[in-house]
Amino acid sequence: QVADSLYIINQFGQKYFEEKLFNSDEGQDIALSYLKERGFREEVLRKFQVGYSLQDSQSFVTTALNAQYNIELLVKSGLVAQRDGRSYDNYRGRIIFPVHNQSGKIIGFGARVIGKAERAPKYINTPENELYHKSKILYGSYQARQSIDKLDECLLVEGYTDVISLHQAGIENVVASGGTSLTPDQLRLIHKYTNNLTIIYDGDGAGVKAALRGLELALMEGLNVQLVLIPDNEDPDSYVNKVGAAAFQEFVKANKKEFIIFQLEVMLKDAGNDTNKKAAVVNQMAETISKLNKAEDFTKQQDYIRRCSELLRVEEDGFNNLVNKFI
Ligand code: GTP
Ligand code: MN
Ligand code: MN
Ligand code: MN
Ligand code: MN
Repeated sequence: QVADSLYIINQFGQKYFEEKLFNSDEGQDIALSYLKERGFREEVLRKFQVGYSLQDSQSFVTTALNAQYNIELLVKSGLVAQRDGRSYDNYRGRIIFPVHNQSGKIIGFGARVIGKAERAPKYINTPENELYHKSKILYGSYQARQSIDKLDECLLVEGYTDVISLHQAGIENVVASGGTSLTPDQLRLIHKYTNNLTIIYDGDGAGVKAALRGLELALMEGLNVQLVLIPDNEDPDSYVNKVGAAAFQEFVKANKKEFIIFQLEVMLKDAGNDTNKKAAVVNQMAETISKLNKAEDFTKQQDYIRRCSELLRVEEDGFNNLVNKFI
């Protein structure tokens, strides 16, 4: 009941914001010009139903109330906020990215400041409500679904703009986790589409850490996980804009690495010549591989035991026993 009303309000909001982006002077001058400068073309913005919220704090709420929308539901949707008995627009002077569910209905929004975020947060998101559950959201899954089916692979990036830029570059099997670390619910959703997950994160320290955190969960979910790190302080959006679609595809193809092997290399490098640290790495890798302990993954597990014991320079049988201790 509430959920149905929220869908309708979100759809109303989306149409309102899209109209402002393309047809208002303020939207064209401030928002559309900014998006075009970043390389987004109208076609892809339309595909993702991107919009703009005017700077004036009353423009949307006035329109919505005139159209007889209920104020409590407007607040619940996150489009309107209330303070001291006054209602005002929650998103002001921001680019609006609608978030769609599997069937293409809008469950919420991400709202980005124009340009650099000075004081305000860069993004504001819909608060948790009957439709919007942050931990279950994969941005772009509606637009990516067909391509994921066709390629039997899902690419995972961090942000809204990464998803949209990759679509523009012809890479459509891509979803975003929204900057938070991957949740079991998100991984379960991905697994419904495909067994093959490729994580494309920033190459900075934070990106690597985020990637490693996701690994164990993804392995337990039974996914084949590969990883690509984007170099030089770029993210997929900025990198594809810099080098172009073809070179981006080439880069991903050439730098895709199985996640378990990536983890092993990172930890081995960390350990250096320290024998204690090295032993800890052997232990940790055995534990990671033990997570593959599902009947369907037995062959995969044996394969990793063989390859990892080789890379770690330990005896395969002993390593195999160690893995089994964690099972
Ligand atoms: P652009 O700067 O427009 O290219 O966005 P981005 O996606 O590159 O932003 P960034 O890499 O900083 O963050 C990745 C994702 O984390 C974003 O797409 C958001 O989903 C989320 N995020 C970033 N900043 C904020 C914030 O201030 N608040 C919230 N709630 N989420 C954020
Ligand atoms: Mn499977
Ligand atoms: Mn980053
Ligand atoms: Mn980014
Ligand atoms: Mn970015």
